[in-house]
Amino acid sequence: MAPHTSNPLPAILGALVLAPGLASAFYLPGAAPTSYQINDRVPLHVNHLTPADAPGYRRVQSAFSFDYYRPEFHFCQPKDGPKDQSESLGSILFGDRIQTSPFELYMGKNETCKAVCEEATFGTQDARTVNLRILQNYNLNWLIDGLPAGQERVDSTNGENFETPGFPLGLADPEGKKPPVLNNHYDIVIDYHKASKDMYRVVGILVYPGSSMENKVVDGKAQCAASNDQMQGVVLSEESPTKVTYTYSVYWRPSSTSFATRWDRYLHVYDPRIHWLSLINSAVIVCVLVGMVAAILIRTLRKDIARYNRLDIALDDLSGTGVVEDGVQEDSGWKLVHGDVFRPPKNPLFLSILLGNGAQLFMMTGFTIAFALLGFLSPSSRGFLGTVMILLYTVFGFVGGYVSSRIYKFFGGDAWKQLFTYTPTVLPAAIFSIFFLLNLFVWARGASGAVPFTTMLVLVGIWFVISVPLSFAGSWLGFKSGNIDTPTRTNQIPRQIPTSGKYMKPIPSMLVVGILPFGAIFVELYFIMNSIWFSKVYYMFGFLFVCYGLMIMTCAATTVLMMYFLLCAENYHWQWRSFCTAGASAVYVFAYSLLYWARTLGFASWTGGVLYLGYSALISGIFFILTGTIGFFATWLFVLRIYGSIKVD
Ligand SMILES: *[C@@H]1O[C@H](CO)[C@@H](O)[C@H](O)[C@H]1NC(C)=O
Repeated sequence: MAPHTSNPLPAILGALVLAPGLASAFYLPGAAPTSYQINDRVPLHVNHLTPADAPGYRRVQSAFSFDYYRPEFHFCQPKDGPKDQSESLGSILFGDRIQTSPFELYMGKNETCKAVCEEATFGTQDARTVNLRILQNYNLNWLIDGLPAGQERVDSTNGENFETPGFPLGLADPEGKKPPVLNNHYDIVIDYHKASKDMYRVVGILVYPGSSMENKVVDGKAQCAASNDQMQGVVLSEESPTKVTYTYSVYWRPSSTSFATRWDRYLHVYDPRIHWLSLINSAVIVCVLVGMVAAILIRTLRKDIARYNRLDIALDDLSGTGVVEDGVQEDSGWKLVHGDVFRPPKNPLFLSILLGNGAQLFMMTGFTIAFALLGFLSPSSRGFLGTVMILLYTVFGFVGGYVSSRIYKFFGGDAWKQLFTYTPTVLPAAIFSIFFLLNLFVWARGASGAVPFTTMLVLVGIWFVISVPLSFAGSWLGFKSGNIDTPTRTNQIPRQIPTSGKYMKPIPSMLVVGILPFGAIFVELYFIMNSIWFSKVYYMFGFLFVCYGLMIMTCAATTVLMMYFLLCAENYHWQWRSFCTAGASAVYVFAYSLLYWARTLGFASWTGGVLYLGYSALISGIFFILTGTIGFFATWLFVLRIYGSIKVD
């Protein structure tokens, strides 16, 4: 009998009611639950092998993942060959390779000791490769009904049980005294929930791998050892061929966990209290800081503006008598540059393009996090996050085009053709080329993390067909709309800029300001890195949302303060300065990724390092444009505002 699908509404409502709180954000199950009847076949799908951290090891050893059916592993294939499962774009981009498997699981039917297929023979070369993978802690990733097969872990801080996806390929001795053992037996324990009569659902999967030389097939019947003790398990000899039979047992346990909450055990937040504390800590610091900056600025500005406007009145009065007071000369600070502050920066075209792309990234990030927070990105629809990000980025091409052409008009630019064509092309092409180059490395290694060529073509297609026209439309709208008026007129002759004090030198001031937005996101960065490099499930969108808000606030406040000092020092080159000052936090993000590498990753090959550095640089670069744009627009509003409130004749 075919499994049938029931109404998803109760599950959705259930998810809403049983939401595990802001700490992990709740989720709506992406797919409707699949119900099975007793003895229905439940398919087991296999995904790629990924490097993982293991007890006893401090570091993750590799950055590559491998296809399950690579010949050296000798895993059993379905009779008519493995078939690819259809996956979302995001899922493919993040490396998932899901295929069918020969495991036969029947709902509610316990079975012990079944062979997956006839025995396999490991040659010496394959033995060497597989032993290396075991030493590198590779994990197998299986999916049953969309749920990853996992291992049980205990959080040492509060004794809570939780599950991590994946289970090890073999058992390695971190000290290297004992040879690596290959797991050739799997005890699959599946929790199932009875939703109603004849409707059973998979709600939890644990796999306890074991190993024994004695497991074999005799006269078409599998025989398993009494205990699958890994200590006496299968050691692949690197001198002579080794015969191995893969076996498995299936146990079905009735469970009270409902379908709607089946993901909760995977979304474990380590130490939510400490997480909360550090977040509140940084939130308080950021708010105090921003408050102080605002208070100081507003006070000083009020005084400045009052003084400037008073001087004007005094001058008006005096003009009748023909006596000019020296007060004019004493006029100092940011008012002096009123005739230059709106002078277009160098390379206005390039800056406009960056700002347009930055606005596009800003919208994409904000909307993605908001969607995730509202529960639209269910962890059960794999790769949905990636897909949503790509689609949002594509659609917001319109915003990118509009912003870049509005700003370009404001800068008085006239190379419109270049602006129209470069805005949607330069940055995506740069990102894509780096991505492509890094992929060549993965291809060269024959690892499965490489994005297939067809997927690349799809990406390029989406970009040309949707993003570029939308960007053109946005640019056109920006081009047609009116000019943004400047409150003061720009003088013909540029003013000389006095030499500034030490602390206003570009590099030190950028580094000082850049550390603050970094401080706001630093708590979350560690968890995001873990989810990228350890393939852990990231589900703390509540935290991320707060952090994103804090980051925007710090970026804006600190950049505005710095630019106020800059203008007071009579330097009116604020456009590029504000962009780079806020963007400097990307330097810290990159530095942090190096620190993370030093502390948690230990790549065995230099290609792993290149891949890691490449992706870190790419992410930092994108972060630079994002924060730079926030800094620029905050300063832009600030400058328009303060020069709008003084009287200049
Ligand atoms: C199957 O095995 C599990 C775990 O040992 C046990 O709890 C369950 O009752 C068994 N089911 C049947 C139908 O025997």
